[in-house]
Amino acid sequence: MALMLQLIFTLFTLSSNTECSDVFVSVGDSVQLHTQEPLPEFTTFIWKFNKTEKVLEYLKKYNDATAFPRLKDRVAFNNENYSLTLKNLQKTDSGLYEAIVSGQKDTEVAAYNLSVWDPVEAPVLIYQLKKETCNITVSCRTHHLSVNSSCDKKTCEERKVSALGLVCLSLFVSSSSIICNHSNPVSWKMDILEMEKLDCSNEDAVSPSAGVSVCLLKIVLFSTALILMVSAVITVHVNSYCYTVNKSCIM
Ligand SMILES: *[C@@H]1O[C@H](CO)[C@@H](O)[C@H](O)[C@H]1NC(C)=O
Ligand SMILES: *[C@@H]1O[C@H](CO)[C@@H](O)[C@H](O)[C@H]1NC(C)=O
Ligand SMILES: *[C@@H]1O[C@H](CO)[C@@H](O)[C@H](O)[C@H]1NC(C)=O
Ligand SMILES: *[C@@H]1O[C@H](CO)[C@@H](O)[C@H](O)[C@H]1NC(C)=O
Ligand SMILES: *[C@@H]1O[C@H](CO)[C@@H](O)[C@H](O)[C@H]1NC(C)=O
Repeated sequence: MALMLQLIFTLFTLSSNTECSDVFVSVGDSVQLHTQEPLPEFTTFIWKFNKTEKVLEYLKKYNDATAFPRLKDRVAFNNENYSLTLKNLQKTDSGLYEAIVSGQKDTEVAAYNLSVWDPVEAPVLIYQLKKETCNITVSCRTHHLSVNSSCDKKTCEERKVSALGLVCLSLFVSSSSIICNHSNPVSWKMDILEMEKLDCSNEDAVSPSAGVSVCLLKIVLFSTALILMVSAVITVHVNSYCYTVNKSCIM
């Protein structure tokens, strides 16, 4: 993840007759947008956002680039190849970025559809066993998506749902592990459940439903540990006190 955040995506336009390329980046990332080559003769070079707003203007005659307020301190322009680097991207920076050169006429020399995404949240896998029938139901969910699947001891029905075709939640079995994978164009996270846990003869038929109860469990464990530590300290103190007393008693 950290690596991904540092990653600078390098992209090239696909054809000289500018096609709009889709670009996906994580919040906080940087991206470098290139132009087609060779460029036609020009006097002014402009990077525009959503058709109307100027991001950067370069006047060839003065070799001077001006960044406009929209991305002011977060843009870098390369005077030699006219690449635009956008830094510390936020979701509101999502939109259409176009490069237009003006000379005899205006020509579009690059177009990118940029979407900035948050990394996905981790999914949560839980299971339920019905001892009598040995029915196993596995559920995987996130805030917005969920899938349910029936399993036996060896496998589960594969399930997949998606939102906008870009965010996916999929459940499948791979080398005796049930895997739930939550993904979007910039990241994925998964939760894993070992098949061997799905044993009908198993006593605890319901997995600790994550969230509150796991949190509660942690609190209980922590408190228990704390109490044990405190009593250990007290015991040590009492012991050494006794020891001293005993010693002094002996002496
Ligand atoms: C343009 O120049 C920048 C900075 O030197 C470099 O990182 C980038 O790769 C160059 N782009 C192209 C298309 O050569
Ligand atoms: C840009 O991409 C978004 C989703 O990533 C899509 O909804 C939108 O229609 C695209 N816009 C253009 C102009 O291609
Ligand atoms: C439970 O098992 C029974 C019998 O094997 C089956 O008919 C039923 O559909 C199962 N229920 C679920 C929720 O999988
Ligand atoms: C999965 O099961 C849970 C609880 O039984 C239910 O709330 C949820 O709507 C189900 N999700 C789907 C996609 O069927
Ligand atoms: C999860 O999904 C993403 C996107 O489809 C994929 O790149 C990744 O390899 C998947 N992870 C696993 C463990 O299958």
